[in-house]
Amino acid sequence: LDPAFLFKDFSVGGQPAMNPNFNVRITETEQQTGLIQPSNRKKLWTQVWGYGSRTVSWPGQTIQVVNSSAGGAEEALVRWSNELRSKSHLLPLDTNVHWCYSLHGDNSANGVDYRAFSIKNNGVPISTHLHGANSDFQFDGNPEFFYSPGGKVTGPQWDFVPGGFTDHFRYNNTVPACQLWYHDHALGITRLNVYAGLAGQYIIRDQFDTGLSSNPLGLPAYPYELAYLVQDRMFTEKGALFYPAFPGDPFYDDFITGEGVILPPEHFPNGGPTALAEFFGDHIVVNGKIWPKANVEPRHYRLRLVNGCDSRFMVLQFVAVAANVTDPNHSSAGAPLPFWVIGSDQGLGTPRETDTLVFEPGGRYDVVLDFSQVPFGSRVIMKNLGGDSPFGGAFGADLAPEDLFDDRQTDRVMAFDVVKPKSGVADNFQPQLLPDYAGVSGSATVRRVALFEGNDGFGRLQPLLGTVKSGNLNTTNVATAYAWFQPTTELPSLDGTEVWEIYNFTADAHPVHLHLVNFEILDRQVFEYQVTGSQMIPQHDGMMGEAPEISFIKHFSAAPVGPEYFQAAPKDMVTALPGNPEPESGNPTGQVVRIKARFNKRGQYVWHCHILSHEDHEMMRILQVT
Ligand code: C2O
Ligand code: CU
Repeated sequence: LDPAFLFKDFSVGGQPAMNPNFNVRITETEQQTGLIQPSNRKKLWTQVWGYGSRTVSWPGQTIQVVNSSAGGAEEALVRWSNELRSKSHLLPLDTNVHWCYSLHGDNSANGVDYRAFSIKNNGVPISTHLHGANSDFQFDGNPEFFYSPGGKVTGPQWDFVPGGFTDHFRYNNTVPACQLWYHDHALGITRLNVYAGLAGQYIIRDQFDTGLSSNPLGLPAYPYELAYLVQDRMFTEKGALFYPAFPGDPFYDDFITGEGVILPPEHFPNGGPTALAEFFGDHIVVNGKIWPKANVEPRHYRLRLVNGCDSRFMVLQFVAVAANVTDPNHSSAGAPLPFWVIGSDQGLGTPRETDTLVFEPGGRYDVVLDFSQVPFGSRVIMKNLGGDSPFGGAFGADLAPEDLFDDRQTDRVMAFDVVKPKSGVADNFQPQLLPDYAGVSGSATVRRVALFEGNDGFGRLQPLLGTVKSGNLNTTNVATAYAWFQPTTELPSLDGTEVWEIYNFTADAHPVHLHLVNFEILDRQVFEYQVTGSQMIPQHDGMMGEAPEISFIKHFSAAPVGPEYFQAAPKDMVTALPGNPEPESGNPTGQVVRIKARFNKRGQYVWHCHILSHEDHEMMRILQVT
């Protein structure tokens, strides 16, 4: 893309909010992302799938609800109406991964064979998850609660819901103010449905964070509060969404050469399409617009950020440059600007000032930035230091860009031009008005879980979840990996409080998400282990995969650290950092990260890696509260 097209003014702030009791249609549409046909400067149209009421869009319209403490109803009602008409997926579909229409008697909960169904004959299955919500299980939008257009084919889990299938979802509206997001979660095609456009924001208000300029916390309110969903995409020259899947397609994953990589043919079942290990787009898209720009006043703004990328960790900074500069690394760029992080996934936390923010896929951050700290007329670029790798920099340890190509512009997200005169609206942000995060109270039992990277029956990277034995860790064969359909191992009891120790035996950082709960991030710690063999992983289609056998965890090599500065907030995402699985000398190391949560609703939920390519390839397990 010609850098001259960067940061065009698309007026991305302040999308219209829908009213409560929403009837949301999910269907095909086309829209302009900012791409231009170079030959004639005509704006290109992109086919997408969207959510909306009268008109649908990518991202879906922002839903805003006032919770019951501030006069709203106890529940918010949303109808998610599947009106997709497509007879094929918008993107290349790998039918060899475990997905809605591959479930059969041995691996579907209700014993039904879904292999009789196809998108051609039955339409695209969807399942809408309100990420971060404390929902009753049947309204959680889990992978096996999918349904085809009109609800004609319904996922196996609906058979266990009293009353059966409904697309009228009820959401708990008694939780504190926070920024949730809704996105598709259908089994094995989440990455594709989200890529097609099925994601949007859902903002909850309470009596403190009212969204009005009179709010008691002095928080900037609209038009000084802006909500941005950040994603990455690739496009064809005609402006269509591009998703690499066939031998010879240009793409970037673990096996990057910088040229566009061709994987060996054994990774392409029947010649493709294949699921990728990860996906890193070469265009950054904010609220559906490529590298947009907003005009702002010299005052505090509240930026509500969602990382809706498939795999991309970002490391955000804000730098001031001269007007019209598009390169965040331009010689005129000053030192990164300080800003406040005042909250995260599940609401306000202890405010902290920083100049750098690690931003995991699935995560949300609530940021206040003062545009009066730069000269009027400047441009402030939201810059991304993270590279095209699932290890985007770790809490200051390594913020160097990895795998950044000269011809890519993923080192920038969007721009703000400080060109609007300051209005008379009071600008009284005071971080000391914000309360400290209290954490999750109560005594807890410890559960040990694990992250693995193995291979599926086709030899493709298959990331998996599993368990670690309780008790003494100085023992052989301590960790077991499981495929999605194997019996549930995470069974917290109702109203139980648990500390989860998440052991990462992989080389990558994985953004781990638990449905239902909000949690406190406690700490992380390095440990040593050895790989002494492999364990067989049964696949949904009868093939065999494998994962490393972890023969012992010797000891913790260092004291626990953390929580890191921007983790002092209620979270539903935690980044499980890797250790060093291939050190030059000594044992491989991993890291364990510890979180604490209370499980307050009974029923079936899930936990998974929020790298969408990972969760679709079975880095996801059921979480059943009993
Ligand atoms: Cu946003 Cu189960 O995820
Ligand atoms: Cu992962």
